[in-house]
Formats: sequence, C-alpha cells, structure tokens
Amino acid sequence: MFFKKKVNDEIDYDNLPRHIGIIMDGNGRWAKKRGLPRNAGHKAGSDAIKKIVRAANAMGVEYMTAYAFSTENWKRPKEEVDALMDLLLTYLKDAERLMHEDNMRLRMIGSPKELSPEIQEQIIKVEELTKNNDGILWNIAINYGGREEIANSAKRIAEDVQNGIINPEDITADTVEKHLYTAGQPDVDLLIRTSGEMRLSNFMLWQVSYAEFWYTDKLWPDFTEDDLKRAIIDFQNRGRRFGGV
Ligand code: IPE
Ligand code: IPE
Ligand code: MG
Repeated sequence: MFFKKKVNDEIDYDNLPRHIGIIMDGNGRWAKKRGLPRNAGHKAGSDAIKKIVRAANAMGVEYMTAYAFSTENWKRPKEEVDALMDLLLTYLKDAERLMHEDNMRLRMIGSPKELSPEIQEQIIKVEELTKNNDGILWNIAINYGGREEIANSAKRIAEDVQNGIINPEDITADTVEKHLYTAGQPDVDLLIRTSGEMRLSNFMLWQVSYAEFWYTDKLWPDFTEDDLKRAIIDFQNRGRRFGGV
C-alpha cells in the first residue's frame, strides 16, 4: 500500500530559498515556434526576466542570479551576438530606473573586459546607483562562465601568494569562495532551467554544489511568476541533507 507524501501547495515565506539561480533558456525556440527571428525571442526573454526579478523581490527572495550571456555564447553568429549586446545595453538602461525604484541592487558577474565600453560604463553606473538599496541583490551574468570564474579566483589567489598576503598552505575552499564574483553571497539553493534542457552549461559551477535543481519544459519567454512560485513550493518540499543523514 502506498501513502502519497503530502505536498504543501503554498509558499512558506519564512523558508524561502535565499539564492535562486536561473538559466533562462529557450528564447530561440520560442521565436521559431512563432515564425519570428531569434532576436524577437531574446526581446521577449528580457521582458520575462524583468517581471521575474520584481516578483522575487516582492516575495522577499534575497539573491537571484540570471544567466544572460555565457562565455560560450560568443560562438553564435555575429548578428545574434550584436543583437544580444544591444538588448543588454537597453536592459541595463531601463534597469537604472526600474531597479532603483524597487529598491533592488544590481551586480554584474562575469568578465567585463570583453564587453563594449558603453555596456561596462552602464553596469558600473547601475551598480553604483543601487548599491545601498536593501531589496533583492540581483546578479546578471554576462560573459559569465563558471570555469572562467574559478580560474579568475585562482589567479587572484596566486597574486596574493606572490605578494606575501597568504601562504599556499592556508588556501581553503573559503579562500576560493572569497575571490569569486559572488564573494560573500550564499550558495545557490534553487537552480531553475527552462526549455527542458538538463545541464549546467557552465553556470555557477562552484555555487550550485548543493543546489536543488528544478526544470520545466516551458521556454524562457513563457516563464511566469506562477512558475517561479511552483519551483519554490517544490523546493520547500524537498529534504536537503548536505551530506548528513
Ligand atoms: C537563451 O535562449 C538565451 C541565451 C543563451 C542568450 P537561447 O538563445 O539559448 O534559445 P534556444 O536554446 O536556442 O531556444
Ligand atoms: C546557457 O544557454 C546560457 C544562457 C542561458 C545565457 P545555452 O543555450 O547557451 O546553452 P547550451 O548551448 O544549450 O548548453
Ligand atoms: Mg539555448
């Protein structure tokens, strides 16, 4: 005889995931299904994330990281890369007002130096403007790769060794963490990926060690606040052991 585990269908706001990571995937397929160019999918995807980050902030989620452009996405046709960069700049310009009005903080994670000067300047501007807000901390991952982030952390630790700031024997996982783009932030608790793919694609390799993975077949532009709530409820009904019993 089977007893079905009782599943709560309401969010427990005292037990929210502190950090939610989102791999926003499926913009291209969303556009294709509608006979539109891929870039129309990216535009729809950027509208979707605007709503989701606001919803997460309103719910009281403390940290959210969204994967907007990976270190591997430069492999796409130049036309698509250019359109994505234009869209990111527009997004960051909107974010200046929208994020600040809603008391949210923006942080870019990834390697900035390959990005255009306008994008780099706009990121610094919004980060500065929003740094004292105390709503959600929203990391936008641009030119981000988990391997690049860890390699960059290693490089900075090596510099500290060279400058006599730290001894190699004293390097721990904590040292590596302190040199990641997300230094000081909690690990990802809940990782969401849309479009039915079940892979990490180089996203936050360090921070997802104990994340609960939730995926949906929905394409990113169709992802709604209700889907976010469903993912959180599912998260809250899982048993996390972190290697214990
Ligand atoms: C995700 O959508 C957005 C980025 C990677 C920039 P895709 O562009 O990967 O959409 P699909 O996977 O081709 O449908
Ligand atoms: C991951 O999606 C990157 C972002 C969402 C920005 P991709 O569409 O690039 O990943 P793969 O190629 O399917 O693994
Ligand atoms: Mg994709």
